[in-house]
Amino acid sequence: MKMKVVVVGAGTMGHGIATVCATAGHGVELVDVSEDVLESAKMKIGWSLKKLEEKREIKSAIDVLQKIKTTTNLVKASKDADFVIEAVVEKTEVKKEVFRVLDENCGSEVILSTNTSTIPISDIASATNRPEKVIGLHFFNPPVLIKFVEIVKGEKTSEETLKRTIEFANSIGMDYIVVEKDVPGFVVNRINVRVFGEALRLLEEGYRPEEVDAVVRYRIGMPMGIFEVADFSGVDVLYHVINELRKRGMDLEVPEIIKKMVEENRVGMKTGKGFYEYEGFYSRAKISPRFAYRLNPLRLLAPGINEAAWLLRNSVASKESIDKAMVFGMAYPKGLLEMADDFGIDNVVKALEDRNVDPLLSNMLAEGKIGKKTGEGFYKWKYEKKEFGPVIYEKRDNYVMITMNRPEKLNALNEEMWKGLNEAFIEAEKDQDVRAVVITGKGRAFCAGDDIAVMGSWKSFLNGKDFFTNVAMPLLNTIANYKKPIISLVNGIAFGGGLELNLAFDIVIASDDAIFSVPEGLIGAIPPIASSLGVAVIGRKMMRYCLTGEQMDAEEAKTLGIVDLVVPKDQIEITGVEFVNKITRLSPLSAKAIKETTRAYRDVFRFVVEKGLHEITELIPTEDFAEGMRAFVQKRRPSWVGK
Ligand code: NAI
Repeated sequence: MKMKVVVVGAGTMGHGIATVCATAGHGVELVDVSEDVLESAKMKIGWSLKKLEEKREIKSAIDVLQKIKTTTNLVKASKDADFVIEAVVEKTEVKKEVFRVLDENCGSEVILSTNTSTIPISDIASATNRPEKVIGLHFFNPPVLIKFVEIVKGEKTSEETLKRTIEFANSIGMDYIVVEKDVPGFVVNRINVRVFGEALRLLEEGYRPEEVDAVVRYRIGMPMGIFEVADFSGVDVLYHVINELRKRGMDLEVPEIIKKMVEENRVGMKTGKGFYEYEGFYSRAKISPRFAYRLNPLRLLAPGINEAAWLLRNSVASKESIDKAMVFGMAYPKGLLEMADDFGIDNVVKALEDRNVDPLLSNMLAEGKIGKKTGEGFYKWKYEKKEFGPVIYEKRDNYVMITMNRPEKLNALNEEMWKGLNEAFIEAEKDQDVRAVVITGKGRAFCAGDDIAVMGSWKSFLNGKDFFTNVAMPLLNTIANYKKPIISLVNGIAFGGGLELNLAFDIVIASDDAIFSVPEGLIGAIPPIASSLGVAVIGRKMMRYCLTGEQMDAEEAKTLGIVDLVVPKDQIEITGVEFVNKITRLSPLSAKAIKETTRAYRDVFRFVVEKGLHEITELIPTEDFAEGMRAFVQKRRPSWVGK
């Protein structure tokens, strides 16, 4: 049903709201106290309708423009209104006066909605004789692009008003959530001020805006960084919002830094300077992905998740609504609570450090409801845990976590470990839900390589050949032919086979204290994969490490190309999750096809690895090998040293 919508206030929000309503086919009367503002609003509306016409979202800009009338006469405009949206300045007294006039002049059935960000709906409603017909309709800037509203119930808002407002939101093509209680900041701004507050705290700790925003853009996956959004919205606007929410009882600090910025008129794009400097209004800050891996993304997300827990515990909005609001309103790549389940409530609580942890989060932690890794967090997830010998297999909804679990032996590769890994990889390959596989080691090591006790027991070429053919090669073949991406989290020592397996995985993330080496030559054996495949894919530099058994740190392993990313130890788990999320943004068929295109290389892999394995089996019956094994067990240097 087409209506006459009265939009009061023609500023930043009012003109955009009028555009949205007219585009949907409603007649609009846009009211302001200032003729100049109305004039400029008409220009801006014309410009944005032209853009919509170019993008073919509307047929004719002129036709839509004709649906919008402007006036400074609120009384007259109110007389035949069907629905009212108020978007005047954020001052309680001004809004109350506007509502008093609206109440006096609009038909008795007309709903009076307000776009306020910080003033209680019930307060505004108290200026009318129809508080049951007053409701919050909170748009986001710019309304033409962000097709989402928070519909906020005041204390007296009736169910009928809510129902009709939802119908209205639908009629103008807006997605919505219902905010059940009139709390300061509603849902989105409450979460935003926590995340923004933390971002400012990080600046005080010495991080640069680029570093914070790089995490937001390139790791969390939002289109704009927090400081970019702040500069776009106006630092003064945010400063005002924070102050107002604080006045209304939210326990918030007002950071000195933005107070100073407002005093110095460094308020963002509109003054050419904010957290960044701008050459023109539409220029964008330059933020390199290179800055992204110093800061833990949970430092930013956890305060938001903590606030979301408060909202949930106080029945302000459902978890689905909170998630939808952050996705639709703030362009989060997925719901905030869904992300909390991905990263783990344990990690969220840890990241909150000295802040007050909401009891909902503490209880979840105590009950072991920590997210995908236990099958339940805010949501329930498909979860399965089993063991293949010393290998733990956990299906965590859309990915599998494989953990080598012989921490007392630094996860050394004995027969059971090779076989267990093979079975676990095969199991994960079969499961249709699984989009990626993550592998790591329990305890302080990733994997210390082949179990020397096993190797020492080989006496003949045949013993070794049998082992490599029947135990090691099946796993290497499985990995060579694997159709799903494999992410390795190298959480500590990766020696010998522990390093070499990583040459066959797709993405290798190492903690900053991880140590790599291929020391097999020191004990009369060789690193068969490193000296064959390693040299083939990494080049001559691998030879140095094969020929000396020298250790290298994670950064050197990254320089060589064994490791893709080095992260602080406390971030390795969540970085793995982050990469699963990144991979699941690809279409499953694309991921599969990318793996398939590596097939030619995989044939090389098998060919060169077979050569490596042949060489090591040749060594097994020699005296060097026997002496090397004896010396290792007796903790002495082999007899050939220095000769
Ligand atoms: P603005 O300052 O751009 O526009 C306010 C307009 O109200 C001005 O044009 C002013 O002339 C007019 N006005 C003042 N008194 C009036 C009256 N008695 N009758 C009619 N018009 C009157 O402000 P902006 O940013 O558009 O904000 C408007 C409302 O929207 C506020 O309540 C604000 O909290 C809310 N809001 C703002 C967002 C933003 O990003 N700017 C986002 C969501 C909500």
